[in-house]
Amino acid sequence: MRKLGVGVLGVGEMGRRHAENLRRLVPQAQLVAVADVAVERARLTATELEIENSYGSLEGMLECKGLDAVVIATPDKFHASAVRAAAAAGKDILCEKPLALTLTDAQDLLEAVSKAGVRLQVGFMRRYDPAYAAAMKRIESGEIGVPVIFKSVGRDKDGPPLSAYQPNINGMLFYTNTIHDFDLARWLMQDEVSEVHAYTTVAIRPEVAQFGDVVASVVNLKFGKGAIGNIESYAQAAYGYDVRTEIVGSKGSILIGSFNRMPATFLSAQGSTQMIADHFLTAFADAYLAEIRDFVESILRDRVPRVSGEDGLKALAIAVAAERSHLGSKAMKVSLERLTVVS
Ligand SMILES: NC(=O)c1ccc[n+]([C@@H]2O[C@H](COP(=O)([O-])OP(=O)(O)OC[C@H]3O[C@@H](n4cnc5c(N)ncnc54)[C@H](O)[C@@H]3O)[C@@H](O)[C@H]2O)c1
Repeated sequence: MRKLGVGVLGVGEMGRRHAENLRRLVPQAQLVAVADVAVERARLTATELEIENSYGSLEGMLECKGLDAVVIATPDKFHASAVRAAAAAGKDILCEKPLALTLTDAQDLLEAVSKAGVRLQVGFMRRYDPAYAAAMKRIESGEIGVPVIFKSVGRDKDGPPLSAYQPNINGMLFYTNTIHDFDLARWLMQDEVSEVHAYTTVAIRPEVAQFGDVVASVVNLKFGKGAIGNIESYAQAAYGYDVRTEIVGSKGSILIGSFNRMPATFLSAQGSTQMIADHFLTAFADAYLAEIRDFVESILRDRVPRVSGEDGLKALAIAVAAERSHLGSKAMKVSLERLTVVS
């Protein structure tokens, strides 16, 4: 059976996991190369994963024999140029979220990918998480009736060190964290977001404001068919990595995440009354694996990826609207048909 030759660009925390999964747990794929501007990191990763090829740039890796597809896991700012280059070289692409940092870039990428005739998947791996996937099946079967309210919480354990903000290579909270929930909102509610109103705070860490970022946010949503929603994101929850989502419908509710009958739950950095994951790589280990397996299978079977470039663009449009709402302290209307964001 033909194996898909895959290269991973950027072997930091996320790219390293994709490379390990491809090397060890996806029999239909062959990890043929890794690349990173940190050349030594690329070389070490290749040695540890027992593969021959490591490169200091995407351009170098694109020359590698047997390379069919590229996984892009560089910081956000470099996604657009990498997708463009990989598409121009005729490679299929799995790009980490966010697809790009501007709508213009994201639209250009969709055109470039379509012109090149390659496939593009965006890294919204929560869709592959067993609990989220099961929830979606029940929603589709009509078990909770018509979805009315979407609620989601996404909290990281530790905020990034200030030095991570300085190079300005990643998007702010809406692009790095909340974008997962923006995608879930569209997917689970089976509707498009039509209005966004964001509230943000830097109260416990005012230093991040100079980098255009925030520590926590709540974003209220309206959906096209009349449903409403609310998403909370928090960059430094201290007690753990905490992701929960609820979809409330006309006949019932589905809660993804922890829930029990204890009268109260106490969570702190010192200890919690509930078991809690402390990192996304642990909490979503199954999802990352299912995601990359599905990417490889989509390409080998010549089918459209389940999480498309269009999904990446639409979630990005909601993030752009949320950022504008945060900057202008007002609600923004979003048209995902025409890709416009106006107050
Ligand atoms: N889907 C998810 O759940 C999830 C989780 C974490 C991160 N991410 C995304 O993955 C991407 C990487 O995040 P991370 O946490 O692994 O970051 P990281 O800083 O740990 O790793 C980034 C790596 O990319 C390398 N790099 C930087 N610029 C490069 C370039 N131009 N070409 C090649 N390599 C380059 C760096 O040297 C580093 O090794 C980000 O876009 C982030 O938003 C997604």
